Amino acid sequence: MAKDIVVVVGSLRKESFNRKMANALRELAPASLKLEIVEIGQLPLYNQDLDANPPAEWRVFRERVKKADGVLFVTPEYNRSVPAPLKNAIDVGSRPYGQSAWDNKPAAVVSVSPGAIGGFGANHHLRQSLVFLNMPAMQQPEAYVGGADKLFDANGKITNEGTRSFMTKFLEAFAAWVENHPA
Ligand SMILES: Cc1cc2nc3c(=O)[nH]c(=O)nc-3n(C[C@H](O)[C@H](O)[C@H](O)COP(=O)(O)O)c2cc1C
Repeated sequence: MAKDIVVVVGSLRKESFNRKMANALRELAPASLKLEIVEIGQLPLYNQDLDANPPAEWRVFRERVKKADGVLFVTPEYNRSVPAPLKNAIDVGSRPYGQSAWDNKPAAVVSVSPGAIGGFGANHHLRQSLVFLNMPAMQQPEAYVGGADKLFDANGKITNEGTRSFMTKFLEAFAAWVENHPA
């Protein structure tokens, strides 16, 4: 059976390049991976006071992540770090203490930016959290996708053959990573 991969997109923007990338990855993924975007924009801001009686959105999100075989993060860079909604989703999923939904889930990170350095800062800030969350994060290949404003056609398809073939290889490597790091 195909591995169940939760895709977390770090941008809430309707025309987000990262969402376009996430959708393109769903189509490029090998048959051994089933990618599903799980929304994070509806999650109330994490507040430890709510742990005793968590909002329904938190509970649904945590349960969905817990079921998954792996997690694929696709994120923009905001001020050289990850956007707040993504950090919020990470924090929501990580609690209550000792019951983190992320624990032991194999992960991979794709950062996408119109800028030339492809969201490198966000990609690596995110990796810092993944260490603490005990998520084995695929190291190679790395995916810092720059020039995103010129990457997609009107239907959201990746127009650049080199990028499409690179991302296909990335997903094949991730499939092997997930296979070798059971959640
Ligand atoms: C608050 C804010 C901070 C940003 N900071 C960065 C940054 O540090 N590095 C970068 O490459 N782009 C930065 N950008 C530009 C984003 O890469 C660009 O808006 C991109 O389209 C966001 O991704 P999305 O298309 O998936 O929404 C920033 C944009 C915003 C709104």
